[in-house]
Amino acid sequence: MQRIPEPELMDEEKQALAYAQADFEEPNNQFVETFLSLFGQPSGTMLDLGCGPADIPLRFARQATELHIIAVDGAPAMIKLANHTLSQDADAKARIETVCASIQELRLPPQSCDAVISNSLLHHLHEPLAFWDTIRHCGRTGAAVLVMDLSRPQGRAEAQDIVDTYAVDEPAVLRKDFFNSLLAAFTPEEVEQQLTATGLCELSVKQASDRHWIAYGVLQ
Ligand SMILES: C[S@@+](CC[C@H](N)C(=O)[O-])C[C@H]1O[C@@H](n2cnc3c(N)ncnc32)[C@H](O)[C@@H]1O
Repeated sequence: MQRIPEPELMDEEKQALAYAQADFEEPNNQFVETFLSLFGQPSGTMLDLGCGPADIPLRFARQATELHIIAVDGAPAMIKLANHTLSQDADAKARIETVCASIQELRLPPQSCDAVISNSLLHHLHEPLAFWDTIRHCGRTGAAVLVMDLSRPQGRAEAQDIVDTYAVDEPAVLRKDFFNSLLAAFTPEEVEQQLTATGLCELSVKQASDRHWIAYGVLQ
């Protein structure tokens, strides 16, 4: 099945709220556990691209109490929800800096981050190579990189099966977004091609679940 892109930013209030209220306990925990098993405890500055409501940064901040996190999202509605979540945890809030910027306009100093993470952003992007260029620009030599995203199924029926399996109790707006995201997602093979095109050959790609791939490695 050909990829069907979706809008980049999740900036409708209703859409952002439905996403923030959904249960991502399992994949978000899996994301943190995967990072820890690959790289150990993070330290220094971690950059999260497309942070959404900041659930993953919050999990990392609670896990690694010296870690500083820059959490970036281009949607003001999402950053508002992230700030609300963080306002309930003073310690985490002091170490997580939220930035409302698209990755295309993000201007961080080169090689300024010790780790770069991203979950479920890439499938939103119309020009995916800009994402990998941002990781290369912001991550220092030796930075740990972990990216996870949806893997595009073979067809609409398979996408619908995945939605029915994992989002059966979620509101209609979220089920629709999830379905569209599956159709917009990249396959692991396409991600491999993107890494080759951007010279990030030190990163590996593998299927991580029935619906996710991960790309991971240490920048050289
Ligand atoms: C599916 S959500 C994932 C949120 C979060 N990473 C998580 O795992 O819960 C994707 C997020 O990426 C953001 N986004 C999409 N395109 C973006 C861009 N070009 N620059 C920055 N953020 C973007 C959306 O606004 C949305 O909040």
